[in-house]
Amino acid sequence: MEKTIINLRSALIGETTASAKYAAFSKKAKEEGNLKISLMFEAISRSESIHAMNHKRALEFLLKDTVEVEPEEFEIKSTLDNLQDAINGEGYEVSTMYPEFIEVATNEDVKRARSTFSYAFETEKKHKILFENALNEMKKNNESILASTYYICPVCGYTYTESDVKDACEICNTKKEKFIIFQ
Ligand SMILES: [Fe+2]
Ligand SMILES: [Fe+2]
Repeated sequence: MEKTIINLRSALIGETTASAKYAAFSKKAKEEGNLKISLMFEAISRSESIHAMNHKRALEFLLKDTVEVEPEEFEIKSTLDNLQDAINGEGYEVSTMYPEFIEVATNEDVKRARSTFSYAFETEKKHKILFENALNEMKKNNESILASTYYICPVCGYTYTESDVKDACEICNTKKEKFIIFQ
């Protein structure tokens, strides 16, 4: 369980930072007049805060103690650069961080950590696609094509838009009526 404790703390700091960063990127996009990209960052910031909360609960359960962390420092640039920064962050989590953390939690047989890491891993794959799509459309001056509504599963943080929302979460089966709506 030793490595998983370290990984949970690291993932908690990572998700806390991502949530704060995307909230700041949302504000920046709004200032630049990119309202749809602002909305996307706002919704995904909430998703990351759900991952942070899940990791925190798992860590506190294992340690039998309360845990508090602060976000790490980050830079706010132009929205184009912020999108690339977000893609890089999600890319690292999807290709390296969460696969490793899930493997270690499986080997150490810490089911609660495995579950919270898996929820985040599935979600980050979707975030990476959403950010890549937004960057592509922004480069073509075509932001108006981006989603106008986001649905965040309050249990696993999975992120849907009006074009792919389901009656129940495809990751954790939570009903659509419980989803947090951003529009
Ligand atoms: Fe993410
Ligand atoms: Fe879910």
